[in-house]
Amino acid sequence: MKAHRKLFTVSSILAGSLAFAACARGGDSPDPSTDPSIDPGTSIAISEEGSGVHVNAITEAPTGFDSSNNGLCASQAVMDTARGSFEQVEGFDDGIGPVFNNISCVSCHQNPTSATGAGSQITELRAGHFNGASFVDHPGGSLINDRANDRSIQEHILSGNEVRTLRLTLSTTGDGFVESIDSNTLVAISNAQPAGQRGTVIQVPVAEAGGATRVGRFGWKNQNASLLTFSGDAYVNEMGITNRLFPTENTSNGTNVQGGPFDGKADPAGDAEDTESDIDAFALFMRCQKAPPRGPINANVTAGQTVFTQIGCAVCHTATITTAPAGTVINAGRFTVPTALGDKNIHPFGDFLLHDVGTGDGIVQNGGQGTRNQVRTAPLWGIGARTRFMHDGASVTASDAIQRHNNQAATAKNNFNALSATSQQNVLAFIFSL
Ligand code: HEC
Ligand code: HEC
Repeated sequence: MKAHRKLFTVSSILAGSLAFAACARGGDSPDPSTDPSIDPGTSIAISEEGSGVHVNAITEAPTGFDSSNNGLCASQAVMDTARGSFEQVEGFDDGIGPVFNNISCVSCHQNPTSATGAGSQITELRAGHFNGASFVDHPGGSLINDRANDRSIQEHILSGNEVRTLRLTLSTTGDGFVESIDSNTLVAISNAQPAGQRGTVIQVPVAEAGGATRVGRFGWKNQNASLLTFSGDAYVNEMGITNRLFPTENTSNGTNVQGGPFDGKADPAGDAEDTESDIDAFALFMRCQKAPPRGPINANVTAGQTVFTQIGCAVCHTATITTAPAGTVINAGRFTVPTALGDKNIHPFGDFLLHDVGTGDGIVQNGGQGTRNQVRTAPLWGIGARTRFMHDGASVTASDAIQRHNNQAATAKNNFNALSATSQQNVLAFIFSL
């Protein structure tokens, strides 16, 4: 993480001013200074991740489950085009598979109907082996794809892989703001937590920056830090579409099944199946989304929030985080926080840190063996649109989810159980107002 302040502050506000930052960025990610699809807005400070000085006023992030533009896309039409890519169904000739999980991003990421990009009840499967000291990936990787272009290459969990878990689809709504949180802000949240409940910060590779690292915040294991990286990762791992960031097809349980009868589109070196650069459209769409909206707030909800904080839930379920100042260079130099995403307060009710609350799934991804039994605090924003909870979706009521909190969250759970029935109901009313 870089702590030094970059070069200069520009006091007047021209789109062109931001071009100075381009040398630090490279060309892979939509660049507010040169990409006409992005409104460069009115940011005035240009700094590297880590300086954190807010020159602009801090305002509330806009909210909505309606795929409408938070101001980052140059127009709603630009956002609608990007949403079209996120909703595009891919078939055999487009390169889907050889093994995959679903046929479009929206087929897993949507609810309510208006909210392309949100979550759903769909889970995916991971597996591997614990050898007594370390987690060892299942042959071909811990992700076991649920579908294939031919039954002869269908993946299955092989014997000897006793670590198994389901992973529930996460919502991407508001993730442009999450990406725009300065890494040092996440470190500061961790440092402020009591030692016995401190969240783990991990550094993960940013694919478009050649693997340079940044503090992870996306996925149940915080395995990614950049929405462009996640787009490339999801395109190949969920849909089997290779792309410039992830040019290699998945195997079937470790056997190479690329090309031939199992794959309808070739993966020429350097020119992967994503010939239309869909991954940029996915990242743009997610970055242009508003944050999840609140439901109605009544007296029970307000009382519930007070209790939620008093009994220690908010230690991990952080109520408010401020994004980096507009102009901050993030993603290891590949993205500059634009005005639409910078200097914003968001209310995720999550800290984007890994914790051991006794539910850990035993899988290691990007975080090292110490994170085997840690899971990212589930951000509670948008939970009113969900029916299944926790990383595995195995809890079908919020009360059940609370009862699964142990270890770092045992005290908070016990405090919840000691509340009057009315106070417990108020906490639940608060949760479902999010
Ligand atoms: C088969 C269902 C499925 C499909 C298809 C799918 N996803 Fe996901 N998505 C998931 C699941 C499950 C997770 C949580 C994964 C994990 O952490 O293990 C997730 C997580 C994410 C996240 C992280 C969200 C956060 O806030 O942490 C992003 C971003 C994302 N997906 C983008 C995409 C994009 C872009 C596509 C299309 C290329 C896509 N997904 C296709 C199921 C899916
Ligand atoms: C030490 C940190 C910590 C504390 C304290 C904590 N939680 Fe959590 N919470 C988590 C983690 C981590 C998860 C995700 C666990 C998983 O998926 O296995 C989670 C998940 C949840 C979920 C499920 C959300 C979803 O979308 O699936 C709810 C509801 C929840 N917590 C409520 C509470 C309440 C209420 C309290 C206080 C009684 C509380 N939590 C205290 C860390 C914490």
